Amino acid sequence: MSTVEIRLLDPKGDENLAQDLVQLQIDCITCDGALLRFHPPFDKEKRQQMQLFWENRFRQCRQGLRVSFLAVEKTDVNKESLCGVVDLGLPVADTGPFRADVEMLMVSPHHRRKGIAKKLLFALESYAEEKERTLLANLGFIKFLGRDH
Ligand SMILES: CC(C)(COP(=O)(O)OP(=O)(O)OC[C@H]1O[C@@H](n2cnc3c(N)ncnc32)[C@H](O)[C@@H]1OP(=O)(O)O)[C@@H](O)C(=O)NCCC(=O)NCCS
Repeated sequence: MSTVEIRLLDPKGDENLAQDLVQLQIDCITCDGALLRFHPPFDKEKRQQMQLFWENRFRQCRQGLRVSFLAVEKTDVNKESLCGVVDLGLPVADTGPFRADVEMLMVSPHHRRKGIAKKLLFALESYAEEKERTLLANLGFIKFLGRDH
């Protein structure tokens, strides 16, 4: 019997999760073709780049510039396994102290359509509201700047 819980990433205690986050990211890119920062092939060098990407985000968590919400499956023997994540970027800006960025929403292909993404986003929204970050932004569209021809 296992249950999925949502909790905040502890940027110090959870440093060992960087590799699991890399694997989750690879699974989502491979399975869904999701645009999640990196392209295949996922060789050793690419995995190292991805590991640095997450370690940098842990650093931002420690600096108070971001929080990450994890969905973890708890098994009977009290072990955790990662099944989802979403990040909330908390940029410092005089012009928009109320803004926060929703990033890197990923749920493992083995755990889809069980409401995990919904739970992650619910936790994120409650947190954002508590911190008075009332405008949540996401990369909802992309505009390419360049010549018309
Ligand atoms: C998108 C994603 C996060 C959804 O995770 P999930 O845990 O399966 O989502 P939930 O079970 O919480 O679903 C919530 C609702 O989202 C919608 N939804 C989820 N997956 C969907 C899909 N493949 N197609 C259409 N609607 C979908 C549905 O409305 C669903 O509600 P329902 O199950 O009652 O119909 C997951 O598919 C994923 O990680 N995809 C790859 C990464 C990605 O695309 N991330 C998005 C930002 S880049």
